Amino acid sequence: MRNITAQATAAASQPSGADVAVEVRGVCKMYNDVEALRSIDLDFPVGKLTTLLGPSGCGKTTLLKIIAGLIPATSGEIRVNGKVVTGPGPERAFVFQDFALMPWATVMRNVAFGLELKGMGKDERQSIARKYIAEVGLTGFENKYPHELSGGMRQRVGLARAFAVNADVLLLDEPFSAVDEQNRRKFQEDLLRLVELEKKTFIFVTHSIEEAVYCSDRIVILSRRPGRIAQVIEPDIDHNESPDAIRRDQGYLDTVEEIWQGLKRYVD
Ligand SMILES: Nc1ncnc2c1ncn2[C@@H]1O[C@H](COP(=O)(O)OP(=O)(O)OP(=O)(O)O)[C@@H](O)[C@H]1O
Ligand SMILES: [Mg+2]
Repeated sequence: MRNITAQATAAASQPSGADVAVEVRGVCKMYNDVEALRSIDLDFPVGKLTTLLGPSGCGKTTLLKIIAGLIPATSGEIRVNGKVVTGPGPERAFVFQDFALMPWATVMRNVAFGLELKGMGKDERQSIARKYIAEVGLTGFENKYPHELSGGMRQRVGLARAFAVNADVLLLDEPFSAVDEQNRRKFQEDLLRLVELEKKTFIFVTHSIEEAVYCSDRIVILSRRPGRIAQVIEPDIDHNESPDAIRRDQGYLDTVEEIWQGLKRYVD
């Protein structure tokens, strides 16, 4: 594990030598008189999974929404592949904390929706959607509506939709929070495989320290509101080991403990 810094600066949060897909520069966010984020400087490198970890209300979803172009920063700017973000774009896909599925549309239509927006023909988009529906274990549910699914299943539809659009940047807001532990671990393996296979930039939010350590190349701990970067940690987990061996590994356990202590320090 590499504990980069407790008082992370922009320089400290820049991994050296990596292609950078998303640059966050001096981002602050006010919601009327509520200061949600203060002076966030972060780079998100291509091919890496960065996790935002921090207490409820510290601005994690807010930061993802600003990167997605769904809401503006009050000051500062975001660049994606070198271009300043002024709104949403097809190179970024968002899996929302609350699923945000279209309730009037079937699983198939929901998963294929991003491809429909791109103007892709029906046969092609349905064939791509079917592949990702299968990948998240929902084959047979293509014609169901969101209200006919469990919370965990709806979350999997959200994941399949994000993967189907083949975006460069995946913004994942607690994508596994509504699934049971067994599926959660399966999805963690799926996610790691995607990170390994596809040269995408993953920005992930979870409340689980264990999940963060298990899945992340880098963990950014945010302080209690207004969210500021408190600490940046690179867990350095060897995924050639079996999942069970990793979870028993002393380095893994020490990192979990270190983050727990860090959260207590920066959050209280
Ligand atoms: N649309 C909004 N209008 C006003 N205040 C908001 C709005 N959205 C978020 N906030 C406030 O901004 C702060 C950050 O919210 P945000 O949803 O980004 O936190 P979070 O870190 O994602 O929390 P959680 O872990 O509970 O999902 C909170 O205090 C919240 O009440
Ligand atoms: Mg949130």
